[in-house]
Amino acid sequence: MEAAVLAGITEYGISEHAPVLPEPFDDWRMSDADFPRYIEWIERSREISAGRVPVRAGLECDWLPGCEGWIEELAGRYEWDYLIGSVHYLGDWDFDNPFKLERWIGRNLDEVWGSYWKSYAEMAESGLFDVLGHADLVKKFGHVPKGDLDRFYEPAVDAIAAAGCVIEINTAGWHKPCGEAYPAPRFWSWRLRRECRW
Ligand SMILES: [Fe+2]
Repeated sequence: MEAAVLAGITEYGISEHAPVLPEPFDDWRMSDADFPRYIEWIERSREISAGRVPVRAGLECDWLPGCEGWIEELAGRYEWDYLIGSVHYLGDWDFDNPFKLERWIGRNLDEVWGSYWKSYAEMAESGLFDVLGHADLVKKFGHVPKGDLDRFYEPAVDAIAAAGCVIEINTAGWHKPCGEAYPAPRFWSWRLRRECRW
């Protein structure tokens, strides 16, 4: 918080990966039992800020088949400033999990990417989220299909633009094997050709 104030940050957003039921679901998100502590964390940040920087309350929710009711319950638990929707799972596989790299072996990358972007577009169309998180995460470990990736990017941008969602610029990918932000610069070139809020 002090660093944010010193840097002249004008808004400070907090978000973390929301619980998913039934538990145990995976080991890299807050549990439902942790949820009250997360709220305390946000409110403590507001106390520390003491009005110097507005602290925005966010929550990153997984887009999973049949998740709509759970997302609506999470949305009602607090006065969120924004909900982020993200795709981390294809079926039962959290494809960005570094401890599950073996599940990439022998995969048809066109099919994996096709599933990922289809899910991402459906998440946009759900209307449940203010912001869509780390688009392009599927490339995290450098598993990228051959050929022009516009065949994935263009329909995704169309769906996102039609839904009126905001896209996060996530620089975590700079430090991962893909060596590139989420989403890719090429993705943004499609954004420039559409009526987007982002
Ligand atoms: Fe995430």
